[in-house]
Amino acid sequence: MLHKVLKNYRLLGGSTKIMNIMYSGRNLCHLPLIKERAYIDGEWVCAADDKIFTVSNPANGEILAKVPDMEEKDVEVAIKAASLAFKEWRNTSAYERSNIMKKWYELMLKHEETIAQIITLESGKPFIESRAEVNYGNAYIEFYAEEARRINGEILQSTYPTKKYFVEKQPIGVVGLITAFNFPLAMITRKLSAALAAGCTCVVKPATDTPLTALAMAQLAHEAGIPKGVVNVVTSSHASNPPVVDFMCKSPDIRGISFTGSVQVGKIINEKCAPHIKRVGLELGGNAPFIVYNSADVDVAVKSALNSKFRNSGQTCIAPNRFLVQDGIYDCFVDNLLVEIRKLKMGDGSKGDVKIGPMINVAQLQKVSHLVDDAISKGANCLLGGKRALSVGDLFYEPTVLTDVRETMKLYMEEIFGPVVSIVRFRTEEESLFISNQPEVGLAGYIFSSDISQIFRVSKRLEVGMVGVNEGIISAAEVPFGGVKQSGIGREGGHNGIEDYIDYKYVCIGNLRF
Ligand code: SIN
Repeated sequence: MLHKVLKNYRLLGGSTKIMNIMYSGRNLCHLPLIKERAYIDGEWVCAADDKIFTVSNPANGEILAKVPDMEEKDVEVAIKAASLAFKEWRNTSAYERSNIMKKWYELMLKHEETIAQIITLESGKPFIESRAEVNYGNAYIEFYAEEARRINGEILQSTYPTKKYFVEKQPIGVVGLITAFNFPLAMITRKLSAALAAGCTCVVKPATDTPLTALAMAQLAHEAGIPKGVVNVVTSSHASNPPVVDFMCKSPDIRGISFTGSVQVGKIINEKCAPHIKRVGLELGGNAPFIVYNSADVDVAVKSALNSKFRNSGQTCIAPNRFLVQDGIYDCFVDNLLVEIRKLKMGDGSKGDVKIGPMINVAQLQKVSHLVDDAISKGANCLLGGKRALSVGDLFYEPTVLTDVRETMKLYMEEIFGPVVSIVRFRTEEESLFISNQPEVGLAGYIFSSDISQIFRVSKRLEVGMVGVNEGIISAAEVPFGGVKQSGIGREGGHNGIEDYIDYKYVCIGNLRF
């Protein structure tokens, strides 16, 4: 049956496109990993209707590739391929899965420069950040290749001498992995590596704006010998996304969905999966407070503010959304921050010294513009930026600093996802906690203080899933990434990240004779 459906596809194995790209004015690279087909059942395929959509560079609008615009019938083929592959993959030993993932990791290392270039091309991220993302994304593959061999069960103490209680961890089945544009590699490897280690097979749906990194990653998974059907990557346009995601959520053959994206879409996915009692992992938006107390080391706080706020031009779920700065340190922190932000160069991420790239698309640019305009119209004081950087390019927004931010302004409660520092002055620790915990979301929070008791008090009471103390960069393969309240369900990364992909099987052996 699967074979028949696949026959209707144009199978284009040799569709690799070689791109010559000028980096920093020099022709540094050929990018043999740019693929213009989706990856289903170990083959490079078009959409059944031959529809395509274009992927472009947000830094300059240049078209990079045309990839399949897939619909429900295409996704059905991918799900069937994954279901068939699951029958074999689930029976591989953890040792085999670990080894094959290690091979994949080695290939990812070998091609890290090329993958970083693809990330910069399609996301606009400064190249130095893309390199960091490749290290970070690859670390998940390495970590879960190791973790595969530690997915152990238990033998529990029994009340009865004649009974033995065993608990085994089994893969849940086929999983759908749906990711956002802002980390085109790491967001996928964080989910996919855990799923593969557990013995699940996968249908990956990368973000419409950034599918090329996912396809390059799939090519290397293929070369590493990951069997056909175990990893499938389907691509779809903004218009096709809702029906495709709907189909994935409702398919009885998909046992779990892991999604990273907005709270709004996360709620829809949760609702769609509920009638099917499907496993759901949600990593949604946040409104991270970045609290600078009077005792903070200002240099550390300013440096961390730059690192965490301007990472990917602010398009990061854990980016600080509101800077809460205590009275006694306020002027010094704001003055120093302004000096450092003025040094950040904006532009095409492939140029060496660029630190701030474009917004990913027009919708994101408009959202940021709207939030800033709203705040200014309601009395925020704009110390820097506050408008589009049209001289740099169509999708660029100036690094912006707003003070006197108040609750009536939309960006107080809404996730900005742009290069905008919004600052609120506070007096007491209690006040900082009240402001921090107001939103319905709680992903990350940051505390800058040299008072150890305050650090413990505040990190305990912050309603978030992750806390950075005197540190703005907190992500790592070894740790559980995720939020509380409406920021999501479950954790990704670390040994905890396996939980989304396993079922516990309890086996009771009775009537034993000793
Ligand atoms: C995200 O924006 O969701 C990912 C950030 C990270 O992994 O550090």
